[in-house]
Amino acid sequence: VPFHGPHQAGVETPPQAHATFVAFDLDAGVGEAGLRRLMRLWTSDAERLTQGVPALADTEPALAERPARLTVTLGLGVGALAAADRSDQAPAWLGPLPAFGVDRLEPRWTGGDLLLQFCGDDALTVSHAVRTMVRNARSYTSVRWVQHGFREAAGTTPPGATGRNLMGQLDGTINPRSAAEFDALVWVSDDASAWLRGGTSIVVRRIRMDLDAWDLLSFRDKEQAMGRRLTDGAPLTGGDEFTDIDPESVGPSDLEVIPRWAHVRRARGDRPGPHVLRRSYSYDAGIGAEGVADAGLVFVAFQADPAAQFVPVQRRLDELDLLNRWTTPIGSAVFAVPPGVAGEGHWFAEALLG
Ligand code: HEM
Repeated sequence: VPFHGPHQAGVETPPQAHATFVAFDLDAGVGEAGLRRLMRLWTSDAERLTQGVPALADTEPALAERPARLTVTLGLGVGALAAADRSDQAPAWLGPLPAFGVDRLEPRWTGGDLLLQFCGDDALTVSHAVRTMVRNARSYTSVRWVQHGFREAAGTTPPGATGRNLMGQLDGTINPRSAAEFDALVWVSDDASAWLRGGTSIVVRRIRMDLDAWDLLSFRDKEQAMGRRLTDGAPLTGGDEFTDIDPESVGPSDLEVIPRWAHVRRARGDRPGPHVLRRSYSYDAGIGAEGVADAGLVFVAFQADPAAQFVPVQRRLDELDLLNRWTTPIGSAVFAVPPGVAGEGHWFAEALLG
């Protein structure tokens, strides 16, 4: 996947099979100059590793040889802008999300000054890239949290097919696909934060699934909770996966075919079409006490303005969404994703720190 370009890779890129999200805290005393050095260092690492070239002083150069669609995407938290004395240039939405009633946030999955999203089709390549870039940042940062995620293995589903999450649903149907939709919904174009133009924002929410309780539902109940069929993701009101839902449709006993509390009705609101880019990964952190899975979704949304796009959707879900019975947000973080690195000699967040 090309590293240079107007936008960072790892957003519009068709999702790879593996992802690791690493959030960092900046060490006390790392200011503008330190952050600039770190950005140059990480740019060099990402520029090389994503193209199958070992990082400078790579400890295991052989592990860099097959990039397997590796992308490395950088995000800056509100703390990074403060450390570099650039708080005046922070977009208004940069910072923790408003509190939601469904939240049970744990500090160990929440916040961070910096984010690196590593995605690739090979877990070995991703692991090597993570270790290399974490190690190179050690004199500036400490790791705050790490989240691993996975999707279908490369080659096991047709290109472009919607993947499934651990509840068995096709997840990612309503998403921006065309360049025009990405321009309208994902890439920042306003003048308020000029350094972010061509960039975006990432919201990372760790959402635990109570899969044992979900297992107790009938097939039909699972479909009612979502408003879509489990087999092919089509709306319960008919058509195929990409047919718009019909919220007005009522069944023989005058009941709405897609209940008001179904996830898709609440998430969609009264406007068809995508609101954000969802690029989530499943997580499986093993089996805990009494044989219960510690699993769920590393929910990832990219959008130009989280306050105007993510938050209204999450508010509606917070008010009413049957899926809340089986899902609990336990982590939350928001980062500004600067535009892409234009070419050799340029670096991450140069328009902010250069
Ligand atoms: C574990 C938690 C979640 C699960 C399992 C889940 C699953 C799904 C599924 C299966 C769909 C239908 C197919 C599709 O369009 O992708 C969907 C739609 C959607 N979800 Fe979620 N979701 C979760 C959490 C969230 C959250 C936190 C948000 C954002 C605040 C969200 C926003 C949306 C949106 C905007 C749609 C498209 C609705 C439409 O326009 O039809 N979801 N979700």
